[in-house]
Amino acid sequence: MDSVRITEGSTVLKVPAAHSAGGPGKILGTVFFNEQMAFNRDVSVMLLRSLDRDMSVADCMTATGARAVRIANEAPKTMVAANDINAGAIPWIEGNIRINGLTNCRAVRSNLHSLLAEEVFDYIDLDPFGSPVPFLHSAIQGCKRKGILAITATDTAPLAGAHRAKCERRYQSRPMRGPMCHETGLRILMATVARELAKFDRGMTPIISFFADHYFRTYVRVDEGTAAADRCLGTLGYLSYDPSTLERSVSPEKDGSHVYGPVWTGSLFDRDALKALDPSGMADERRCRRMLDLWSCELDSVPFLYEVSELSSALRTETPRFSKLLEVMNQYGTATPTHMSPTAFKTVLSPEEVRDAFLETVASH
Ligand SMILES: C[S@@+](CC[C@H](N)C(=O)[O-])C[C@H]1O[C@@H](n2cnc3c(N)ncnc32)[C@H](O)[C@@H]1O
Repeated sequence: MDSVRITEGSTVLKVPAAHSAGGPGKILGTVFFNEQMAFNRDVSVMLLRSLDRDMSVADCMTATGARAVRIANEAPKTMVAANDINAGAIPWIEGNIRINGLTNCRAVRSNLHSLLAEEVFDYIDLDPFGSPVPFLHSAIQGCKRKGILAITATDTAPLAGAHRAKCERRYQSRPMRGPMCHETGLRILMATVARELAKFDRGMTPIISFFADHYFRTYVRVDEGTAAADRCLGTLGYLSYDPSTLERSVSPEKDGSHVYGPVWTGSLFDRDALKALDPSGMADERRCRRMLDLWSCELDSVPFLYEVSELSSALRTETPRFSKLLEVMNQYGTATPTHMSPTAFKTVLSPEEVRDAFLETVASH
């Protein structure tokens, strides 16, 4: 199969010449590779590099070995298992280990369920086609005490409410359409991880959780014990949203209006962990810097996101300049941009205050 050599971060990778350039991507030959996921891999590298301690890593669904080899090369204190079930992936993984002269990375051909039943790791990465749900149980079983789970979900359509029934079957949670669809989708994924961890008397602390391109991604630190599990279950809740009044609220219980969820209502990020991330030398350094800036200031434990177009259409006004709108909102209370959308903000303000601030901005235009 034809191959090309590319450089991602400071790692050289041999990948299939015919590979996906964006979107969810698909296998175009014997093995999968998607260039656009370089940013996703950057975040793993930044996180593991920042920890600066000996870490055993299982990149459970590694395909060409891109993430595993980058981690082993760019976060040198790691010891990495680059695993894939696909026999056709192994020569690619071995080739990439060789090209980079690594001694801290090994190719493994295993069903991840077997691998994680036999070995435990400090960091476990799941990067499936679609939903990670079928793999969560094994990932938790194979995660060492106080380890890290890193989980991608590319089944964005169900999680963001385009296929409600599918989301309800897979995640046992009701998704939401409209401006908060991605925020809700991410929080459904996180609630699912929390509920699965609770079955093992474990809880979680989110480190970095985000929506990008066509996927959701969450990194969580696993907390041990029943108290941690109960605390996490207590962080789950249900959302209500009424587009006609712009009213949104959260409740610990499901009731007549709080029908969306359960969702994770806690934080998305660990601010101290974010501060320790260094984007220097990443494949998409500019995007990493931009996202780190956004994540660091984004309100993240209140799931109330507003789209500017939602407000202008509900209030039948023109659309004000986004920077001006944020300035006025912040005179009323806290409002921040969000990485979820360049034309949305998050705020702790009530819908009435949001409406007032919006109308004041439009009037001052
Ligand atoms: C989306 S690709 C992974 C992409 C890769 N992480 C990257 O950054 O390029 C998903 C991979 O999961 C592998 N896979 C699917 N089910 C698996 C299983 N049960 N155990 C191990 N690997 C599996 C597939 O063979 C495929 O290579």
